[in-house]
Amino acid sequence: MHAYRAAILRFAPDVPAVRYEEDGLLVVGPDAQGRQRVQALGPQRDLAPRYPGVPVEHLPGRIIAPGFVDMHIHYPQTDVIGAPAEGLLPWLENYTFPHEKRFSVPEYAAEVASFFIAELLRNGVTTALTFATSHPQSVDALFTEARARQLRLVTGKVLQDRHSPDGVRDQTEQSLSDTEALIRKWHGVDRLGYAITPRFAPTSTPAQLRGAGELAARYPDVWIQSHVAENLGEIAWAHELFPEARSYLAVYEGFGLMRPRAVYAHCIHFDDEDRALMRATGTVAAVSPTSNLFLGSGFFDYAGADRAGFGYGLASDVGGGTSFSPFHTMRAAYYVGREGQTKTGLSLPPQHLWWQHTAGAARALGLQGVVGNLQPGCEADFIVLNPQATPLIARKTAQAASLDELLFALIVLGDDRLVERTVISQAKLASGA
Ligand code: GUN
Ligand code: ZN
Repeated sequence: MHAYRAAILRFAPDVPAVRYEEDGLLVVGPDAQGRQRVQALGPQRDLAPRYPGVPVEHLPGRIIAPGFVDMHIHYPQTDVIGAPAEGLLPWLENYTFPHEKRFSVPEYAAEVASFFIAELLRNGVTTALTFATSHPQSVDALFTEARARQLRLVTGKVLQDRHSPDGVRDQTEQSLSDTEALIRKWHGVDRLGYAITPRFAPTSTPAQLRGAGELAARYPDVWIQSHVAENLGEIAWAHELFPEARSYLAVYEGFGLMRPRAVYAHCIHFDDEDRALMRATGTVAAVSPTSNLFLGSGFFDYAGADRAGFGYGLASDVGGGTSFSPFHTMRAAYYVGREGQTKTGLSLPPQHLWWQHTAGAARALGLQGVVGNLQPGCEADFIVLNPQATPLIARKTAQAASLDELLFALIVLGDDRLVERTVISQAKLASGA
């Protein structure tokens, strides 16, 4: 066992309310399997006497916080960040599909996987739900790297058997048997999880979507991830291809692809029936504000989501998204929340923004009590923030007169420079790992 003394930020279980210890103690130790978990957290003066002899690392002036959870990102698009296009569909055709072809080469995939994970950690992201490409070897490359680093990570082979160029288009039967083989190989190994990953309805045949839904029913604790209602051109295309469906979202419902642990990126252009369907099926949204602003897709309707009561959390959506930094994403989420021309504009409280990228995102993924918070029992994934990281952040945080002012200063001015250290829960692994 060992302990860290610093200011500590965490959340009450299941509510977006920060509990902040000015002078806190975080006690970490192994569970029966040897995995490092939070053993206790509280004011250091109360807790320290209960753990005599436990070595304490003192981090004066620093803030410990839960590692961030990124609900939607594309590891193969690490090098696609910043590719300009008229909108989603030309961006896919001109930049993304040509680039993703390269992941048929395992060595190339491995190099990008290694960079990607290092970049997540540098930015304080300790759990991610990420797309791979349609090549099974791209999945093997990322899982191998994540396992070596002991990261909690979920990914899956992209399914796209039509309207996709040679080199990324897969074949229906083969794509489904590859998916099942990858589930059996990787799901539940150490901290890894599998996600059945139809790219989006327009690039899958009904047969492929049906097969994906059958796998989702056979493996109920596997995740599902896709995209929906991001861009008006995309939506018109989905309606042309699936004219019988009530809405674009309803296409997925028709194939058994809406359930708990199903995560849809964007969810911008919804009506109230779509929102009710999200809630009724336990499906959640990955809100991707930097991507939606960069690609000109639109503005997620927070008030609409809360009215219907469906779950959501924050995501970078790199490479449509412009940054790995959760601070950039929280800031963009604030701007998107404020937009009041196309939907109700809100001023989202900083505690909500932070929750959406940690405990709230974990809850949306079905990982509450596992990651995204520092309650006793959680896996010990956390970050150490340095509010002295830049002159302006130091000046602004020193003047903060309340917790909300402190959090807002970090969200509005923060980036990777704030993250001094990222700690990943380690375990003694079985042989062969
Ligand atoms: N829709 C289908 N594929 C993609 C993708 O790679 N990125 C985004 N943002 N939307 C998509
Ligand atoms: Zn995406």
